[in-house]
Amino acid sequence: MKALMVKSKKWLPEQKCCRLRQSNECYGGRIGRRLLFCLMLFSALLGSQCLEAAITPDGQPGWFVDMGRFAASAHGTFSCEQCHGNMKRGGTMHPDSENPAFLKAYANREYNYQRCQSCHKPSYEQYLEGAHAKALMKQQTDSAAESHKLPKSKKAPTCGNCHSGHYTRAHLSRVEIGRQMVSVCGTCHPAQAATYLDNYHGKAAVNLGDKNAAFCTDCHGAHHCFSLKDKKTALAACQRCHPEATEGFAQVVIHPTIQDLPENDTEKRAHVALIRVVTLLMAIMVILVVGFFYGHSFVWILRELHEKLRKHK
Ligand code: HEC
Ligand code: HEC
Ligand code: HEC
Ligand code: HEC
Ligand code: HEC
Ligand code: HEC
Repeated sequence: MKALMVKSKKWLPEQKCCRLRQSNECYGGRIGRRLLFCLMLFSALLGSQCLEAAITPDGQPGWFVDMGRFAASAHGTFSCEQCHGNMKRGGTMHPDSENPAFLKAYANREYNYQRCQSCHKPSYEQYLEGAHAKALMKQQTDSAAESHKLPKSKKAPTCGNCHSGHYTRAHLSRVEIGRQMVSVCGTCHPAQAATYLDNYHGKAAVNLGDKNAAFCTDCHGAHHCFSLKDKKTALAACQRCHPEATEGFAQVVIHPTIQDLPENDTEKRAHVALIRVVTLLMAIMVILVVGFFYGHSFVWILRELHEKLRKHK
């Protein structure tokens, strides 16, 4: 509800805005903002279906390699061996005619992503520090049977869940990467993706392609994917784009959902409950206002009709 009250006009660092203005891409100014708001309303009315059509995930894993797409990818000039040759299980190399089950295994779980490290050290190291690597390590140390039983969305992602080794493209625009990643993250965090898309940032960034608004990774970090439950961490994330943000501002609820929320997080549960009550009240108010408006018009028409009929007598 703070979302309605917060007024932060100058959220952009000065130079960024100038840079944007020079390239004629800053939508700044009041008229622009109003136009954006109308567009947002319009796109909200269009519903989420168009949105889904616009998002194309990076590439689905499968044993078929589309050489056309591979050639156009960031790694298109590489030989297969540069990345392969290390797919082994129990000491045997791939392909292994003795072990056809290996071929059927989900390659994501077999590939040794340490190979990516030689060329992408910073991403690799950030990933290791982050929430996903920690969850992956825990799942790997849990008994194999236990982690096998986990549903796909509860399996911690490796590089290959977010990037396709074969088809990932370089030099995509910020908005293209952002849209792709919202759908990638959303496969495992559907409640957060849905609430994000309902949020100002999601509507502006994903629906309207506003590159200044925040995608998942702007707040959480692409490879760290930090938890933002800690208020200080969250504030630091907001301040990247809202430099005047205070602790109160950082408490705006971005994901009003209680899915996967621990029982003891009573503060967030209370916030979400409040948001639901206010949303319900708003809906009731809209129905009442619209009902009154049409009811009033209807009675008015009746009255006019009555007047006309009376004059004819
Ligand atoms: C031999 C070096 C090498 C290896 C190994 C390698 N990459 Fe790359 N990667 C590159 C180069 C070169 C580019 C293209 C960069 C460019 O064009 O700006 C690239 C681009 C990328 C991009 C797109 C970056 C962008 O600009 O948006 C991603 C994502 C990526 N690699 C992920 C991976 C993953 C995941 C692995 C492991 C499966 C991997 N890479 C293995 C060298 C490598
Ligand atoms: C949870 C999803 C996720 C995982 C897991 C992941 N990445 Fe990324 N990666 C992203 C996103 C999102 C970006 C886009 C850049 C951004 O938003 O800052 C990105 C960007 C990149 C880039 C482009 C350079 C850059 O930093 O902008 C490379 C290279 C890369 N990732 C490699 C890797 C490697 C190697 C791994 C495994 C250690 C990995 N990624 C794991 C989401 C992921
Ligand atoms: C940049 C590194 C890279 C290059 C180059 C590469 N691969 Fe892969 N390959 C991977 C990764 C990583 C996986 C594991 C699945 C994933 O993350 O997409 C994989 C998986 C596979 C699989 C298992 C099925 C799948 O897609 O999940 C096959 C088959 C395969 N690669 C064949 C090839 C062939 C053939 C070439 C050469 C044309 C090639 N690869 C080049 C990184 C690479
Ligand atoms: C393949 C599934 C998968 C994908 C894809 C994925 N995640 Fe995750 N994510 C997980 C799992 C599993 C955890 C660990 C959950 C836990 O510990 O309760 C996690 C943890 C997190 C956490 C920290 C939660 C905590 O309580 O510490 C954040 C934040 C997060 N992910 C954000 C993202 C973002 C942003 C993306 C996209 C760039 C993404 N995730 C993509 C499965 C995924
Ligand atoms: C404007 C910033 C912002 C954006 C954009 C954003 N989040 Fe969050 N997210 C937060 C904050 C703040 C929290 C912590 C408070 C809470 O739980 O609501 C959080 C919580 C989460 C959590 C719960 C785990 C934790 O401890 O943080 C997950 C998972 C998550 N976000 C995933 C996503 C995904 C996936 C997207 C994109 C679809 C996304 N977020 C977009 C700010 C953001
Ligand atoms: C990548 C940049 C970015 C990040 C990070 C970011 N925001 Fe925003 N946010 C924006 C932009 C752009 C707008 C539109 C601002 C405007 O038009 O005044 C916006 C608008 C908002 C609004 C609507 C009210 C307003 O100011 O007009 C709220 C509330 C908000 N953000 C909260 C947050 C919170 C809370 C966080 C941290 C958890 C956060 N944002 C992180 C870019 C970002």
